Amino acid sequence: MTDDETNTERWQAVDRYIADTLIGRDAALDAAVAASDAAGLPQIAVAPNQGKLLHLLALVRGAKRILEIGTLGGYSTIWLARALPAGGRLITLEADETHARVARSNIERAGLGVDVEVRLGPALETLPRLAAEGAGPFDLTFIDADKPNIPAYFEWSLKLAAPGGLIVVDNVIRDGAVADASSTDASVLGVRRLNEMLRDEPRVTATTIQTVGSKGYDGFTIALVTGDSSRLGGTR
Ligand code: SAH
Ligand code: DHB
Ligand code: MG
Repeated sequence: MTDDETNTERWQAVDRYIADTLIGRDAALDAAVAASDAAGLPQIAVAPNQGKLLHLLALVRGAKRILEIGTLGGYSTIWLARALPAGGRLITLEADETHARVARSNIERAGLGVDVEVRLGPALETLPRLAAEGAGPFDLTFIDADKPNIPAYFEWSLKLAAPGGLIVVDNVIRDGAVADASSTDASVLGVRRLNEMLRDEPRVTATTIQTVGSKGYDGFTIALVTGDSSRLGGTR
């Protein structure tokens, strides 16, 4: 067995252990995974412990309005929506009709149909419409759709963010390829551009964390929209 295979197996075992211990069986989430698999959706939803991290971030933030870009079968959507207080709302954007249909059914089954709206269409079309409607401002935005468009999604998320809002971006390490300055991969270029935008944007303070687990070697970016760089004490 190669070192990589040993690592992958160990990471998966630890993720299973964490999920079994801290999350356990969850009827709505388990059913969402089963229905997504049955419908042939790709198995790329956040892991259970990552979904719970999103849930915790929304709770810490006290998020009343949440935006998600990239729904898939609604697995991360359910974690996020469960953190909403009474009267809270989540809007999630999905380009694929089948994904959106499976997600709506999973979200309905989870008892969250009233709180969640799945909007069908390419996010670069639905985001300007959201802005024109005066939707938001959002207390938390989770960016998890096509990676080359991460910079554009970040710009929209910033426009639509409430002061003190969080912007979380998935898949920002890409097996380590993010550190390769000569990469021509469109997804890597999207993430590298995001980090430059975060560096140059005085209204946010951000960090990026590497993760290993059942989804391999990847990571999250978490950005706080301060709206005022003077509150940062001179550091980013
Ligand atoms: N957030 C989900 C996983 C999302 S996977 C979870 O963790 O459970 C990425 C999703 O983004 C896929 O469903 C894909 O169809 C969708 N997507 C890809 N390009 C898109 C676009 N341009 N606009 C909106 N959604 C898009
Ligand atoms: C892919 C997308 C994701 O959002 C993810 O977390 C993992 C993989 C993908 O498109 O392959
Ligand atoms: Mg992802």
